[in-house]
Amino acid sequence: MGADQSTALLHGKRLVLGVTGSIAAFKAVGLLRTLKGHGASVSVVMTNSATKFVTPLTFEVLSGEPVTVDLFQAHEEMKHLTVPEHAHAVIVAPATANVLAKAAVGLADDVLSTMLLTARCPLIVAPAMDGGMWEHPAVVEHVKMLRSRGVIVLDPDVGPLASGRIGQGRLAAESRIVEALQASVASQADWLGQRVLVSAGPTQEAIDPVRFISNRSSGKMGYAIAEAARDRGAEVVLVTGPTALAPPSGVKVISVVSAHEMADALFRQFDWATVVIMAAAVADFRPKQQAGHKLKKGSSPAFALELETAPDILSMLSARRTTQILVGFAAETERLIAHATAKLAAKGLDMIVANDVTKEGAGFGSDDNAAVILTRSGGQKEFAVMPKRRLADAILTEVRHLQSMGQPSSLTTE
Ligand code: CTP
Repeated sequence: MGADQSTALLHGKRLVLGVTGSIAAFKAVGLLRTLKGHGASVSVVMTNSATKFVTPLTFEVLSGEPVTVDLFQAHEEMKHLTVPEHAHAVIVAPATANVLAKAAVGLADDVLSTMLLTARCPLIVAPAMDGGMWEHPAVVEHVKMLRSRGVIVLDPDVGPLASGRIGQGRLAAESRIVEALQASVASQADWLGQRVLVSAGPTQEAIDPVRFISNRSSGKMGYAIAEAARDRGAEVVLVTGPTALAPPSGVKVISVVSAHEMADALFRQFDWATVVIMAAAVADFRPKQQAGHKLKKGSSPAFALELETAPDILSMLSARRTTQILVGFAAETERLIAHATAKLAAKGLDMIVANDVTKEGAGFGSDDNAAVILTRSGGQKEFAVMPKRRLADAILTEVRHLQSMGQPSSLTTE
């Protein structure tokens, strides 16, 4: 990427710079100037101990915005909610061992740690610490926890520390911090111009007005995909079966109940879409007849429920498609690759995300998932257990790659 191109990446972006009480706090002043030089607007949030190293006034003058330090003042203006809500990224530099621990376990006892819990944008953390703290098992564990949740933790540089020792603990060079921010913002914009239709959740097939057949899908994977596509610049329509999840902001949500309603909603949006991702666990069977009134247990001692197959939505969409990329999911309990490969071909898909739903810590209801992504021409890539949001981003990256190659077969190489 040329210098001009990379400088432009941060132009007009809203960043939150968190500064904590490390001797390296003065370097955040230089970082702020550089980010402003790139055309970003930067809100600075300081911990109380950071103000012992650099005054809020210094940041205030350079950022042109009031600096937030006090949780109670922030609460009055709801800044702990509104500032990160509009941010493209939050960077904590320097980050002490204390803030890493708080972020890892979810403590919220000051305005910065509270913001770290409310922010939904990418979070980048640049630790700085002395005296071998970086290698302490507690710090190592916290960094691992943060990374597993998708937080980008920049390893500190090795060199002379404030104590006079040599070791790993110096705040990462400013250029590394800026590059990490640029990479995060760039990946957020790579779906600009895309129109993404996502399905999520289970469907419910009525037996009578109070009973239905359904499945264990929580909708979390589909919602994570819708949010990731939105955050990366796409217009998103989410067609969702009944779930307990809050509708994502900035996404058009269409709520449906049955497979039939889901098919209807998807068909209506299909021509608009450039990419369709079917993460919903659509019913395969539905009661052949639905009673108009609640079935009474006394009416017959036993009865058989007669089922018919529900429409296979993906196959129907596939038959109608023009230029849309079609991505399906395969929820399997055995012979993952064989079943997923068969579905990929049978449903005429470009890509299928195969899940072993029996895998510990992944699958239905979990916040995490593991998958193997398969493409039409035999590409295969495995993703270990990770938060669904990270897997969502990985799926989107593969779809973009496929589009950019103009051949619905490739996968990125590591
Ligand atoms: N799907 C669909 N319509 C259905 C059933 C499934 O569009 N009536 C879609 C799902 O959204 C998913 C893909 O097809 O993207 C595969 O779903 P899955 O339940 O794994 O497989 P099925 O086709 O239902 O096959 P089986 O139940 O036999 O495994």
